[in-house]
Amino acid sequence: MSNKNTALAQPIKIGKRTAKNRFVIQPMECADASASGGFSERSLERYRNLFEGDAGVIVFESITMQYDSRARNEQLSLQPENKENIKEWEKFIKDMKKINPDPLLIVQLNHSGEVSGSQFSKRVCVKPLHGFGGEVIDEDYVDNTIDLFVKSSKILYDLGADGVDLKFCHGYFGSQILRPYNDRNWKYGPTWEKRSRFAFDMVEKVRKLVNDDNFIVGSKVSMWEGFPGGQGCAGPDTGIIDLTESIDLCKGLEARGANFILESTGNPSVTMELHMPERGKPDDVYLHFTMAKIIKENVGPDVVVMGGAYSVLNNGKNFLKAVQPEWNSLFHWGNYNIEHGYADMIALGRQSLADPKLPKKYLADKEDEINWCVACDKCVELLIRQENVGCTVYNRPYTDLIRKVREEKGKLRFKVTGMD
Ligand SMILES: Cc1cc2nc3c(=O)[nH]c(=O)nc-3n(C[C@H](O)[C@H](O)[C@H](O)COP(=O)(O)O)c2cc1C
Ligand code: SF4
Repeated sequence: MSNKNTALAQPIKIGKRTAKNRFVIQPMECADASASGGFSERSLERYRNLFEGDAGVIVFESITMQYDSRARNEQLSLQPENKENIKEWEKFIKDMKKINPDPLLIVQLNHSGEVSGSQFSKRVCVKPLHGFGGEVIDEDYVDNTIDLFVKSSKILYDLGADGVDLKFCHGYFGSQILRPYNDRNWKYGPTWEKRSRFAFDMVEKVRKLVNDDNFIVGSKVSMWEGFPGGQGCAGPDTGIIDLTESIDLCKGLEARGANFILESTGNPSVTMELHMPERGKPDDVYLHFTMAKIIKENVGPDVVVMGGAYSVLNNGKNFLKAVQPEWNSLFHWGNYNIEHGYADMIALGRQSLADPKLPKKYLADKEDEINWCVACDKCVELLIRQENVGCTVYNRPYTDLIRKVREEKGKLRFKVTGMD
């Protein structure tokens, strides 16, 4: 059977728009912006490759709109008051649509909060968390942050982007407000009603300002952050899983007009392996499948659920046990989960760095030409070290870069120490 007849190759409606197939490119920060936070040749090259790769949806990496509080020194930014920056975005969107008008371009908006890099920017926090901290923010700060997300969504809409991903995951600002650990008595806590106000008000305001159903709005959500008080925990001081709030978040976003939920679990600064299943412990991939299924069961059929964390599966050369060899691959589980209604689309993170053209190759039955991610996580090491990021296995400049960095600074044991 040609791959064109598989579930992964079928189109799907997202709101009023149509994605040509079921592949989503995950937002992947590569810390390679120009000195002013705009597009460098390296960042442009990455997106040219992705647009040539024919995925149904491309979620543009996490961008900062408050350049003075950012996670990466060379993070791409949208600067609403900077005309030059806005012009760069306009040109970028036009150029990418010229390369390939089909992929839907959704931009991930983010504020780093307590994981902003304190060496080059200002770290702020909702409530100091051990090992993170920063200046504690007030209600006005949160109100202004919501406004910034809303204003930036409108700018992106005017420039021709197809949608936005309002980031509520991975321990960034959205997580910091939503999680039970935010037990401050204020407009944005401690009750779920108050904590969820940040997300719900934001979506409502985006929908109101961008008064066009063709614009896609959705969120990447961490269902369970995996440490006491994190998203998806039963309270501010327990790590016990209770998905009541995470499910209510997805349902509440839907009620306010969200078109998709991009599943995630974990927090890269605290529970790295949970967030991106690693080579030596790939089994958490099943937890991600389960979380996507839980989201599917709780939202209506019009919300597209994008399942995450598929990269570790690759073409079956992984350490998953008790699996028939012919089942043990990304394509098998992608098709299986879509056919069984456990997800609508599958999202590719590290795999999209290893081979940005995987969807095109799959659709053309050229699977033997795919560069498979081996989940070595050297790209992650580059990110943590604030270097430009790329696949060190298949992209020579990054192979040279990681070698050089390790020669100069030694190997990084980040799986033990966390990301910051
Ligand atoms: C280098 C790198 C950069 C990432 N940047 C982002 C980002 O900008 N936004 C985000 O939501 N997740 C980001 N992630 C997480 C991925 O999008 C994805 O959720 C995670 O890697 C699990 O998917 P995978 O197993 O397919 O890699 C990043 C991951 C890596 C390795
Ligand atoms: S560096 Fe390793 S983990 Fe990262 S994309 Fe390449 S093969 Fe995958």
